[in-house]
Amino acid sequence: MKFTLLLVALGIPTLAQDVSTQLVKRAFVDANIPKDLSITFNPTALLEVSLPQGARPPIVLHAGINVPRNDTAGPPIFHVAGNIGHGPFVVATVDPDAPTPQDPNEAQIRHFLGGNFFNRAGLLVNTTPAISEFLQPTPPAGSDAHRYVFLLFKQSPEFARQTLVNSTTSIALFNISMFAKEVDLGNPIAGTFMKVAPEPSS
Ligand SMILES: *[C@@H]1O[C@H](CO)[C@@H](O)[C@H](O)[C@H]1NC(C)=O
Ligand SMILES: *[C@@H]1O[C@H](CO)[C@@H](O)[C@H](O)[C@H]1NC(C)=O
Ligand SMILES: *[C@@H]1O[C@H](CO)[C@@H](O)[C@H](O)[C@H]1NC(C)=O
Repeated sequence: MKFTLLLVALGIPTLAQDVSTQLVKRAFVDANIPKDLSITFNPTALLEVSLPQGARPPIVLHAGINVPRNDTAGPPIFHVAGNIGHGPFVVATVDPDAPTPQDPNEAQIRHFLGGNFFNRAGLLVNTTPAISEFLQPTPPAGSDAHRYVFLLFKQSPEFARQTLVNSTTSIALFNISMFAKEVDLGNPIAGTFMKVAPEPSS
């Protein structure tokens, strides 16, 4: 919440963001995300995802927001609201709808996977390179909008030792629940998601 207060103090308008873990949980269920990702989602904190927009104010996600593809270049900035401690934390972003929600035979696409995030007064600061740096959403022409799901986990000791995924591993056919299970991340403690449709053809 500190981030919002800062923006308000600076007079920068903030777009609607998540304010309630119960509403986020409901939005996930309504969008079928826990089932499609095989995750148990009982958030205890809010993950605030901001997409920088150059000179314009950032877009701050709320669960289920539609974001124009051109506004999703990122990289996203992560904040957390809630009493979750110092860290470290892992952030993952996956697309369960590739290439289309009707036939997601390449899903999940791993759009971000990074560890060693620490909570500095609500800002999640990462001091090491991500395993998978942020990849801008690019749903193919003709597809319905894809869901891009951001999840926050408490980092396990196993995460630092894991050899399942590295920067050269294919980003397709990822499975966040299997990965979380194998490196002992437990269930996500926070999350949000956006929907991004293909760039309208000119
Ligand atoms: C999105 O960005 C691309 C490349 O910068 C540009 O060609 C296109 O017109 C933009 N689309 C919209 C809707 O702004
Ligand atoms: C990434 O993982 C693959 C398969 O496990 C391995 O062959 C490769 O050497 C690893 N690359 C790096 C940079 O660690
Ligand atoms: C992902 O892994 C879980 C086990 O953690 C499994 O139940 C699920 O079917 C897998 N999802 C996909 C899309 O393969």
